[in-house]
Amino acid sequence: MTTGITGATGFLGSHLLRELLGSGDEPITALVRPKAHRPSRDRLMSALAAAGADTALLARADDLVTVVEGDVGKPRLGLDPTAYRRLADSLDTVWHSAALVALTGPRDPFTAQNVVGTQAVLDLAAAGVRRPRVHHVSTAYVAGGRRDGTVFEDELDDSAGFENYYEASKYDAEVLVRSWARRHHRPVNVYRPSLLLTDLPIPDGAPGHTFATLARIASPFLGDGPVAPSPLLTAADTYLSGMPGSDTSLPLPLPGRANGTINCLPVEHAVRMMLAVAARPPANLVDTYHLVSPHETANTDLLAAIAHHLPRMSLTFGSPPVAPSPVQRLFYDVVSPFLSFFRHDRRYDRRHLGEATKGIADPAPPDTAYLRAAVGSYLYHR
Ligand SMILES: NC(=O)c1ccc[n+]([C@@H]2O[C@H](COP(=O)([O-])OP(=O)(O)OC[C@H]3O[C@@H](n4cnc5c(N)ncnc54)[C@H](OP(=O)(O)O)[C@@H]3O)[C@@H](O)[C@H]2O)c1
Repeated sequence: MTTGITGATGFLGSHLLRELLGSGDEPITALVRPKAHRPSRDRLMSALAAAGADTALLARADDLVTVVEGDVGKPRLGLDPTAYRRLADSLDTVWHSAALVALTGPRDPFTAQNVVGTQAVLDLAAAGVRRPRVHHVSTAYVAGGRRDGTVFEDELDDSAGFENYYEASKYDAEVLVRSWARRHHRPVNVYRPSLLLTDLPIPDGAPGHTFATLARIASPFLGDGPVAPSPLLTAADTYLSGMPGSDTSLPLPLPGRANGTINCLPVEHAVRMMLAVAARPPANLVDTYHLVSPHETANTDLLAAIAHHLPRMSLTFGSPPVAPSPVQRLFYDVVSPFLSFFRHDRRYDRRHLGEATKGIADPAPPDTAYLRAAVGSYLYHR
């Protein structure tokens, strides 16, 4: 039984690969996008190490994992016809985790990687003689601009619009998955994680997280963390050094729901649940699971954890100044895409997940220490 995986050099995919390696002796084929600066196998192995794989597990990866260089955004995954046919016919299971995960940027790359890319993986699964079972990684954020209420796992609704092209593209990908399952009479599992976190330090060069972008911008305001130079940071430093008092901080009231919540789930727990769900026979043509914590995190708690690492920035929920200073304006421009996280107070129903993962204890509510450690992992990651 051979398992295929896309996105294994990424944050979630590397944890998923670690979990797959720890739970069986079956061969695994990882489709890895070739990069000029580093061999694909090296990138995969360091992602796996960063996901917590010990030396024994890395040795298992050496034995069990085959790397195929390919790109989901290219026709036939960028493979020649023979390699494509060989890959398609070798697979019994496909985990599709690869995606462009970002909150900003133009629409086209999101369509190419996340929509066309998902179609390419579905085409591969359709072509394979062993009719591999497909596990598609989506996101709880396909709920888009919906602010309140409960989102159900069977729901897929675009009526509230989307906060960004990422969400829209993941929604479109789920639509494709559903129609592929109907057309081919093939069952698919869809996993919708909420905001995935880890409190493990993320080593340099390892797969980061959406928050890492924020971190690069915020680094002059970090307590004792390393600082990467940038024109914005120089502007901020100049601004702060011109202000009286050594304990001066930059006031940054952020628009957001101070009484709202956000769902955060440890990535290690997410992958454990994914494998438990995958071990069950399909119940429907498309089974969708909200990979979410039963405990909501208060927006104010997450913001406090971020603020903890940014002692020179005064982060609060509130109305931004009518006439922001130039450096405030720079920061508002940069952080505005992240503010969509703080606009919601919705819940994700997890009935299907609960039924499929009865043997797995719920994760603990993310407390202050966990949130600070998780935010710190991203902020100090390079
Ligand atoms: N992180 C979260 O909090 C979160 C929450 C909900 C859902 N998700 C979903 O989880 C999945 C994984 O996200 P992540 O956080 O692991 O993202 P990530 O760290 O950015 O990893 C993305 C992965 O996709 C690969 N990839 C991107 N474009 C590709 C292409 N054209 N061809 C082949 N591989 C490509 C990347 O390869 P390279 O190494 O070559 O860049 C990387 O391995 C995504 O589907 C995302 O929507 C994530």
